[in-house]
Amino acid sequence: MRADELRLPNNTEIVEISSDDDEEAGGTEDNGSEDSDNGTQEVCEEFIPGLQIDHIDISNLPNANPDLETDGGDGFPPEVEAFRARVLAADCFLFASPEYNYSVTGSMKNALDWASRGSVKCWADKAAAIVCAGADFGGGRGSLHLCQIGIYLDIHFINKPEFHVRAFDDPPKFDADGNLTDAKTRERLKRVLLSLQAFALRLQRKEE
Ligand SMILES: Cc1cc2nc3c(=O)[nH]c(=O)nc-3n(C[C@H](O)[C@H](O)[C@H](O)COP(=O)(O)O)c2cc1C
Repeated sequence: MRADELRLPNNTEIVEISSDDDEEAGGTEDNGSEDSDNGTQEVCEEFIPGLQIDHIDISNLPNANPDLETDGGDGFPPEVEAFRARVLAADCFLFASPEYNYSVTGSMKNALDWASRGSVKCWADKAAAIVCAGADFGGGRGSLHLCQIGIYLDIHFINKPEFHVRAFDDPPKFDADGNLTDAKTRERLKRVLLSLQAFALRLQRKEE
């Protein structure tokens, strides 16, 4: 396959879903901004034509609770409806979460749960990648748990390359604002995005 065939058509979107407990892989505080993505957007725009990242802040979602559902299970609180619509509209997903006790954060699980409800399966049959950061394992155990959660949701995660960043090792990977500054790690991030893009394309072609 030629390199240019790996590019998705215009305006193909990734939805980047970031845990609000610790913003993004770098682990800084979430400022609630739609633009806060710690460098992923920059890497995407610089190196990956045709791919757009649409960052979703999940901090406003209520706790997942079937008692809040209406319309026979297909109606949701307004924030949840808006979140589900954006997940549904995405071509693929980039999950960003720190590792909390060998898993993703509670807010990330909450977001996954909300979009799993109802008769419309928002996550199903789409490509996804995970970026995470942590201590000794770089958040790798949390991302494995996310893969497990994704089985029932029918999310297709890329296997390679993995992106687990040992956030507290030297040389520093992030600046004081949590932006990914380490050149080697940015290169790794670029390869993750290229792999995700290629996999999303393959899945879309299967539908044709
Ligand atoms: C409740 C909680 C559980 C955590 N569990 C893990 C863990 O299992 N593995 C890990 O590498 N780091 C863990 N951490 C550390 C986070 O990864 C770290 O807080 C995150 O990378 C953000 O870094 P910062 O606190 O310097 O902003 C945990 C942090 C919290 C608050």
